[in-house]
Amino acid sequence: GKVAVLMGGASAEREVSLMSGSGVLKALRSQGVDAHAFDPSERALDELKREGFDRCFIALHGRFGEDGTVQGALELLGIPYTGSGVMASSISMDKVMTKRIWRFEGLSTPAWQQVKSAAETQAAFAALGAPMIVKPAREGSSIGFTKVMSADQCDAAYALASKHDSHVLCEQFIAGDEVTCPVWGPSSAPEALPVIRIVAPEGNYDYQNKYFTDTTQYLVPAGLPAGEEEAIQALVCKAYQVLGCRGWARADVMIDAKTRTPYLLEINTSPGMTGHSLVPMSARAAGISYEELCVRLLQSTAT
Ligand code: DAL
Ligand code: MG
Repeated sequence: GKVAVLMGGASAEREVSLMSGSGVLKALRSQGVDAHAFDPSERALDELKREGFDRCFIALHGRFGEDGTVQGALELLGIPYTGSGVMASSISMDKVMTKRIWRFEGLSTPAWQQVKSAAETQAAFAALGAPMIVKPAREGSSIGFTKVMSADQCDAAYALASKHDSHVLCEQFIAGDEVTCPVWGPSSAPEALPVIRIVAPEGNYDYQNKYFTDTTQYLVPAGLPAGEEEAIQALVCKAYQVLGCRGWARADVMIDAKTRTPYLLEINTSPGMTGHSLVPMSARAAGISYEELCVRLLQSTAT
């Protein structure tokens, strides 16, 4: 039947989603799938029903796409879609809610405080110490993100993050290896793909370095000390499971350089599928092509 690749959308990650969506669209078509682009910021979702689409591949990122809203609308329309359902999407979009659940379940995540003003950001810096990450709770791709090194940067960091979201999160920075690990499958039996280690110029894996420069190094195999790759894979499977994720996701992790403890930062329930993106890179390392990945994700659709 007809498949809609949902792409674009109204979030700050619209440009990223357009890149993800066009890759997915091309891949599905190359495999003989009758796939069409559909931008929910331009057309009402109920047109999907009227035009006879019987499945959706969600290639939207951020709010109004990755956060449970589109998933809820598709549930009402009765159209199966890729990835997590309403609740897991919605919780995973919010880094504070996600961290609360991980902490409750005994999974390691850096210390944090949610703040409502520049003054509270100053207080969080006094408590958490330098460096401290200030970021919107419900945003992706490092948008609105600052690594605060000294107290005088707190006000500007809060102002920037709060431009993107009324929920702002201050988080202890874990110095060490930055890694990411895709997970896929049902909530009851998730499987992890190979871990990727990210080595960004001067340690800044920001929006620019994520999508537009070629100076970031991606190491897969990650070259971690014996046993660490498996430990991270087990951790991210647990992280996925306790949130009730399904289909696929990608969890971002920092490994403390001194203690080698892995700390969960967040989980992305609609991960990037651009030419620079990490899930396709990891899948390729496991012998799965971009096209095969897209087809398998499409086959996992549920409502
Ligand atoms: N938020 C971007 C798309 C990612 O996590 O891949
Ligand atoms: Mg993210």
